Amino acid sequence: MSYPPEMNELIKRVEKTRPARVERKKRGEEFPSIPLEKRGEMLKKYHPDFIKGNKRPIKIGPNKEYAISNEVVDLLEAKSRVDPDKINLSTAHFETDVLIIGGGGAGNAAALLARQQGAKVLIATKLRNGDANTMMAEGGIQAATKLEKDSPYFHYLDVMGGGHFKNDPELVYTLVNKAPKVMKWLVEDLGGMFSKFPDGRLKSMHGGGTSRKRMHYAGDITGAEIMRTLRDEVQNYPDDIKILEFSPAVELILNEHGQCAGAVLYNMETEEYYVVKAKAVVLATGGSGRLHIQDYMTTNHYGATGDGLVLGYRAGVKLCFLHTVQYHPTGAVFPEQAEGLLITEKFRGAGANLVNIDGEQFVYEREPRDVEASGIIRECSPEVGKGVPTPTGKFGVWLDSPMIDMLWGEGTVAKEFPGKVILFKRYDIDISKEPMLIYPTLHYQNGGLEINAKSETSLPGLFVAGEIAGGIHGENRLMGNSLLDVTVFGRIAGENAAVFAKQKARVGRLTLEHVKRYHKELEEAGIVTDRVAPMLLPDYSNPEVRKKQLTSSYLGTLR
Ligand code: FUM
Repeated sequence: MSYPPEMNELIKRVEKTRPARVERKKRGEEFPSIPLEKRGEMLKKYHPDFIKGNKRPIKIGPNKEYAISNEVVDLLEAKSRVDPDKINLSTAHFETDVLIIGGGGAGNAAALLARQQGAKVLIATKLRNGDANTMMAEGGIQAATKLEKDSPYFHYLDVMGGGHFKNDPELVYTLVNKAPKVMKWLVEDLGGMFSKFPDGRLKSMHGGGTSRKRMHYAGDITGAEIMRTLRDEVQNYPDDIKILEFSPAVELILNEHGQCAGAVLYNMETEEYYVVKAKAVVLATGGSGRLHIQDYMTTNHYGATGDGLVLGYRAGVKLCFLHTVQYHPTGAVFPEQAEGLLITEKFRGAGANLVNIDGEQFVYEREPRDVEASGIIRECSPEVGKGVPTPTGKFGVWLDSPMIDMLWGEGTVAKEFPGKVILFKRYDIDISKEPMLIYPTLHYQNGGLEINAKSETSLPGLFVAGEIAGGIHGENRLMGNSLLDVTVFGRIAGENAAVFAKQKARVGRLTLEHVKRYHKELEEAGIVTDRVAPMLLPDYSNPEVRKKQLTSSYLGTLR
């Protein structure tokens, strides 16, 4: 399948304006950025976060009255998967110093650091170790490693600006200051294979909202390379780090001293429940794109169903920043089989314009994500009407990838974007010669459980890291700060959990009283429901759910 004739006709308009756009770029002339004072207005009109009726206040728990997406509230206003009276807590199936829930970048980084502190570690993960959003990340990881032009100071300002200055300053301070050390750890200590110049220096480029080129990358498969690096290292220590796959946590366990002291796991193969007793717990379950908030398709991993939010919230940990959701500006919208998949921001970092049906650029290509996504939605809206129609009745705009070879030399697209070249080749589309059609896609959970700079939560013994944590990115994350966040806070959580296990954990009777209290609160709030949470996996056998990811019922591209 290549583009159908009617789309090929429209591509001619893009080709017609391309040489002039490339020349402008070569002269350093950029499309005007949306002035700061106009951004709020644009977001309010076009960003999905501001669509009325898509949020409601939670009726129970520590954030009672906080209005967030209906899909997340549905999860929080649901019953446990287990009857707390029927779980026998007196015999533990597994005992460990540190239990890590989640097998993504944050979980594996936490495991390594906890082990370094002398802890015995158990990673419990829903699918296989490494099946996570970290693996799906493409474009890069930010770190101010080039101090002749950059510093954590500039990185700090960019992160705060991207998050509308709502971020928790202490978390941002920690993120940016630890970033250079984390890059060294990944590349020099663990052997991560990043894109480098012939003299060995790391390559870097811009992302949306960055004032300096500090996005380091491994082609367009940076997340896969970071995940490979961390997972390989974890596998070097089979005596100290045990891994339980296909075993998601369905409840946290507390002890009589009010400390987090383990979890109930569910074996997805045998359908048995296991009790794990631990001296400290790291929750690193990732994001929630598979909730398909507002029916958006998603870039997210199959298991990204917000499980940790449910577990943490039931145990009394507060939520923050969940009122904003990140829609990545450029998700594939053609061909149908690739709908929702991430088309990395690195294309725009390398200079590719976004253009409308007439081949006109309509937005600066490196705005922060919420602004960029709003610009695209506006262009495709009925009032502007400059979106490109797809054969399935959707709309998108062109991401003009062939500009990259014209700007940087023939072969650049093939070299820098091997993942996407291969993907589109399957559909007989050569992205070094033809543009891609894109539309915003649900990408990231900006908020999550409240933590401090030590990755501690309000529940002693419970540490949180990665996408499930809130506050680092404020109301909007910039590209490349997620791979950084999972590594920085994964390490911090692992280290501090091990210290807690050694110094503060107390022996005591295990309990699920908090789950009983939560059930009671549900009842008192008059919430009568059959819903159970965590969801664990999206139910694509239900045609209504399936429609949210794919226009047709073709399931071949789900990963
Ligand atoms: O566009 C991207 O490559 C995504 C990166 C990110 O979310 O950090």
